Amino acid sequence: MKPAIVRLDRFETGAAEFISEAMRNALSRSGTYRLGLAGGMTPAAIYEKLALGAEAISWEQVQITFGDERCVGPDHADSNYRMARERLLAKVNLPAENVHRIRGELAPEVAAHEYETILRSMAAQRGEERYVHDLLLLGLGPDGHTASLFPGSPALQETERDVIATIGTKPPPQRVTMTLPLINAARHICFLVNDPAKQPVLDEILRGNAALPATHVQPVSGALTWLIAR
Ligand code: 6PG
Repeated sequence: MKPAIVRLDRFETGAAEFISEAMRNALSRSGTYRLGLAGGMTPAAIYEKLALGAEAISWEQVQITFGDERCVGPDHADSNYRMARERLLAKVNLPAENVHRIRGELAPEVAAHEYETILRSMAAQRGEERYVHDLLLLGLGPDGHTASLFPGSPALQETERDVIATIGTKPPPQRVTMTLPLINAARHICFLVNDPAKQPVLDEILRGNAALPATHVQPVSGALTWLIAR
């Protein structure tokens, strides 16, 4: 399926509205919504906007996962979980047990195996081989990385595991990341890109440059949307 390219004038507001509408529509038909959060800084202001409009969403029905995490504790300045907690998760009516954090404070492989076990257990409860996100948010690095899947990394060749430990070129290097099989199992994947300096790498990805990790984000049967600041 061809990706949808959506250019937004007011990026944070537009992206928050896009995500909120997708969640509301799905929650009107289903009792739960599985939302995967992106790390880095691009999503921060979007998460804040989502929190401002929190009453529109039945957050108690939402399950939260993370596309990747740096191997730091939950209160560390580099923690993707901490960013999401401060901007969104602590501000909405989310039961604590619905937030599935990658425990970056553990040894990387231990954290990866633990997270994969949690996701596979939740998937099995629904008869799924691997966890199916209703919406998985992803960022994009200037080198074409996404989550913690970096150019040239052996992590890109993973076909069995859902979550692995890896080394990235963006500090901090030690990370835990969802793999392409898990990412591509999502019903809907949405990239968030608000930096014009990323347009050249985005153009390369849309041309199918296989050297770039984000090119390999191709949902098996789901939708792919690029939300891009105009
Ligand atoms: C991370 C992210 C990473 C991020 C991109 C974009 O842990 O850093 O998962 O993939 O989304 O590097 O980062 P910015 O949004 O800060 O540009």
